[in-house]
Amino acid sequence: MIRIEKLTPENRKPVDDLIKEEWAGPMSVSRGRVLDTSVLPGFIALDDGKMCGAATYKIDGDECELVTLNSLQERRGIGSALINAVLDVARENKCRRLWLITTNDNTHAIRFYQRFGFSLRAVHINAMEEARKLKPSIPLVGNDDIPILHEFEFEIIL
Ligand SMILES: CC(C)(COP(=O)(O)OP(=O)(O)OC[C@H]1O[C@@H](n2cnc3c(N)ncnc32)[C@H](O)[C@@H]1OP(=O)(O)O)[C@@H](O)C(=O)NCCC(=O)NCCS
Repeated sequence: MIRIEKLTPENRKPVDDLIKEEWAGPMSVSRGRVLDTSVLPGFIALDDGKMCGAATYKIDGDECELVTLNSLQERRGIGSALINAVLDVARENKCRRLWLITTNDNTHAIRFYQRFGFSLRAVHINAMEEARKLKPSIPLVGNDDIPILHEFEFEIIL
């Protein structure tokens, strides 16, 4: 049974560890800004009390950015449940849009987000060059040996 809980100081340690492992966190770079995910709000997905996914987000004015999303048990609805939890918060806060950045190599996420209902808003060509200046640990090559070059910006208008 999957449960989604708000991140709290008590439950966020495994999420911080996951972000460190998966994204060389806690720092995350998008659109030329560095965000410290360890202080962002978010959600943890639990399967019988064990972490099976997590999301962090940032609300800025009337926009909500999905900063990180990870599912540890794919194709069980965890990724979608986490996005829905963030969408609820964005609506509660009267946000105008939910947006996110993924990189050009992440074809699985690009497919997933579009099937979920996100629209492509922009492709920021060669944005990863600037991102690497802020976070040098971003690898040059990503999924399927695709060079990580561009930021794909997706959004849902609320
Ligand atoms: C992208 C990611 C978050 C998706 O998470 P997920 O938990 O697999 O997502 P869901 O289970 O909600 O949906 C994935 C698919 O499984 C399907 N699915 C959901 N529940 C299902 C079930 N019980 N049985 C069969 N299929 C199911 C969904 O319909 C969806 O299918 P579709 O892709 O054909 O539309 C996950 O692959 C991930 O963590 N990737 C690595 C990190 C990453 O890239 N994050 C995004 C960076 S920006």
